[in-house]
Amino acid sequence: MTSKSFSIEPLTPAIGAEVRGLDLARPLDPDTVARLRAAWTQHLVLFFRDQDLDMAALSAFATRLGRLHIHPQGDVPGHPGLLQVRTDANSKTYAGHRWHTDVSCDAEPPAGSVLYLDEVPASGGDTLFANMYAAYEALSPPLRGFLDGLKARHSGVRSYRDYFGTPLTKMRDGVYPEATHPVVPTHPESGRKLLFVNETFTHHIEDLEPAESRALLELLYRHIAEPRFQCRFRWRPNSVAMWDNRCTQHLAMWDYHPQTRGGYRATFYVD
Ligand code: SIN
Repeated sequence: MTSKSFSIEPLTPAIGAEVRGLDLARPLDPDTVARLRAAWTQHLVLFFRDQDLDMAALSAFATRLGRLHIHPQGDVPGHPGLLQVRTDANSKTYAGHRWHTDVSCDAEPPAGSVLYLDEVPASGGDTLFANMYAAYEALSPPLRGFLDGLKARHSGVRSYRDYFGTPLTKMRDGVYPEATHPVVPTHPESGRKLLFVNETFTHHIEDLEPAESRALLELLYRHIAEPRFQCRFRWRPNSVAMWDNRCTQHLAMWDYHPQTRGGYRATFYVD
C-alpha cells in the first residue's frame, strides 16, 4: 500500500490543482484516498503527471474512488467502466467537443471521471475545465432566485445519435438516455449550490415556453464559458485528470489534426 504525503499545487484560484508524489498504479491506503478526496472537493479537478496506468490499473484506481459507471455507448470490451478516448488523422468526431458534464443525460450521472492519456500531440489537445459553483455564485441574486426551483430535461440524442452516429443497437440500454435534473442542485459533499445545465446534453428547461428556455440556456452557456471560471490543462504523455462531474464542466480541444491523442477514461459513482 502507498501511504505517503503528497503535495498540491493549485493551477488557478477558481479550479484545478496538480498533485505530486503519488503513484496511482499502486494501491492507496484509505487515509491517502480520503486526503485525495478532500483535495478533489476543494479544487474540483486534480492533475497527475508521469503515471503508468494500464487499463486494469486505471480501473482499480477508479474503483477505490467509487462504483464504476457503465457508459451508455458501451465500454472497452473486457473492461467495464472504461471508455476509449482516441482521435487520429482519420477521426471524424471526438469526445468532449462542446462544454459538458459527462453523461448528464443518465438518470444517475457519474460523480467523477478519471482520464489517462498515454499518447498526446506535440502541442494542442488541451482540456478546459470550468467551476460550476463559481458560475452560479456570479449570477445576480434575482436570476439565482429564478433558477433555483427549475428543472431541465437532458438527452443523449444530440450527442450519441446525431454527432457520434451510434445506433440504438449499440447503446447500453437500447435507448438514448434522457433524464430530468434540477438546474441548481446542491452538491452532496460540499453542500454548495451550482449550475447544472450544459450545451451537449441539456435539451430544455421544464415549465418554460420553448423560446424562453432557449434564450435562458443560451445566456447560461455564454456565462458558464467565461474564462474567469476556468483552468486549462496541457497534457503530457501519461498524465491523469480526475474531475468532479457534479460541479464542473469540461471541453476538449481538437486543434492537433493530423496528430493522435488517446487514452482511457473511467467514470464512477460516489455512494
Ligand atoms: C471527455 O471526457 O469529454 C474527453 C475529455 C478529453 O478528451 O480531454
